[in-house]
Amino acid sequence: MDLGLTGRVVLVTGATGGIGREIARAFWAEGAKVAVAYRSDTEAAEKLATELGAADDRAFPVPYALDEAGSPERAVAAVEERWGGLDVLVVGAVRYGKRRERGTRFEDVPESEWRPVLDDNLAPAIRTVQCAVPGMRRRGWGRIVLMSSHNALDGNLGQEFYGAAKAGLHGLARSLMWDLGDSGVLVNVVCPGLTATPAVLTRLPAAVRDRESGATPTTRLSTPDEVARSVVFLGSAANGNITGEALTVAGGR
Ligand SMILES: NC(=O)c1ccc[n+]([C@@H]2O[C@H](COP(=O)([O-])OP(=O)(O)OC[C@H]3O[C@@H](n4cnc5c(N)ncnc54)[C@H](OP(=O)(O)O)[C@@H]3O)[C@@H](O)[C@H]2O)c1
Repeated sequence: MDLGLTGRVVLVTGATGGIGREIARAFWAEGAKVAVAYRSDTEAAEKLATELGAADDRAFPVPYALDEAGSPERAVAAVEERWGGLDVLVVGAVRYGKRRERGTRFEDVPESEWRPVLDDNLAPAIRTVQCAVPGMRRRGWGRIVLMSSHNALDGNLGQEFYGAAKAGLHGLARSLMWDLGDSGVLVNVVCPGLTATPAVLTRLPAAVRDRESGATPTTRLSTPDEVARSVVFLGSAANGNITGEALTVAGGR
């Protein structure tokens, strides 16, 4: 199947992440040009851009900070100026926030701790989409993929604020699909389950991973490239008329 991505311009935020970099690689493998947006890991972003063909101008690193006003505007403008437009936006950057201490309850979490999880995830994601949409509308074609989590649908103890921020993306997509309806721009959400990224494999205790795998119909975690392929499909021309949908990639959970 031809995904119609040759020569398309893609911006992936959070492209230095465990899933993010597979998304960048997967779009590139389909012939797209990929802007690799990163926050702090300059070395990883430059390495990935070099791997994807910085020399052929098919990739370049773009600074992007969820917690910096004006960053979405600057990142989108950098891509549009360099490559003449932006066809596909993947909103993948995430700020997880502090994990809740054992024994504390939802109401014990101070606002100073939970507010950044909402402010620095949801609002900048919306702003980034706002920046990308005008050019897509003008050209009559665009794909937007918002990275959520199965937690937004199923919930997870201790992840109320992260879950609320991710669930906001679903609300955004369901209403934005109407506004974009006749513009050729489709907006969708991908909800990974716990995914076997390098961070998950090294930082999460094996017992937790085993428990999660055991509670999954396919008996294993998804791999980052499995999540990436779903993102690439929804962000491609092969996706002709799917919009406002949330696709869970979690082995049946
Ligand atoms: N991994 C999972 O199991 C899983 C499960 C469900 C949903 N998801 C979702 O899938 C998406 C991709 O996950 P992932 O595993 O690739 O994430 P990850 O490995 O934790 O990477 C996080 C990414 O976000 C960037 N980032 C962190 N703080 C930032 C900030 N303040 N401003 C801008 N960028 C920032 C990081 O950039 P630097 O490295 O440059 O700082 C990195 O590229 C996320 O939206 C995540 O919520 C992941």
